[in-house]
Amino acid sequence: MEKTLVLIKPDAFSKHHVGDIIKRYEEEGLRIVAMKEVKMDEHLASLHYEEHIGRPYYGDLVGFMTSGPILAMVLEGEDAITRVRRLNGKTNPKDAEEGTIRKLYAANGSRNAVHASDSPESAAREIKNFFSAMEIFDETYTIPD
Ligand code: CDP
Ligand code: MG
Repeated sequence: MEKTLVLIKPDAFSKHHVGDIIKRYEEEGLRIVAMKEVKMDEHLASLHYEEHIGRPYYGDLVGFMTSGPILAMVLEGEDAITRVRRLNGKTNPKDAEEGTIRKLYAANGSRNAVHASDSPESAAREIKNFFSAMEIFDETYTIPD
């Protein structure tokens, strides 16, 4: 079953949108297989956003992502990566479709409420940055008799 990493970013966290956002993923039928509150530091930010290092917005992005708590979670389901990105909407809320999480909760294209992995390769890499195998309760997890 496909997994994806979702982060509820500091803007949405501080505005108390965590519950509303999680509800959208649950209503979509995705399963939460790992979750924790994280304080991102510059090192974790550089791992998570490695492909953005050197971009003009990188410094601001790291400053924002380390500015307060975030909620990290792994969601699992058929086509989870595409479905979560569809629910999140486009990067900039100006371009995001009505009803998407970013349209509802994002202030702008930088402070945009949520992150989600964009491919199976990114998901595998990103999940490892946040969670160890023993924190993930996926379909391979069974309770012994
Ligand atoms: O998050 P998403 O995959 O939709 O977009 P991205 O192009 O991978 O960019 C990652 C994040 O960097 C965005 O979600 C924004 O928070 C930030 N960003 C920014 O602040 N300014 C830009 N011009 C592009 C991205
Ligand atoms: Mg991205």
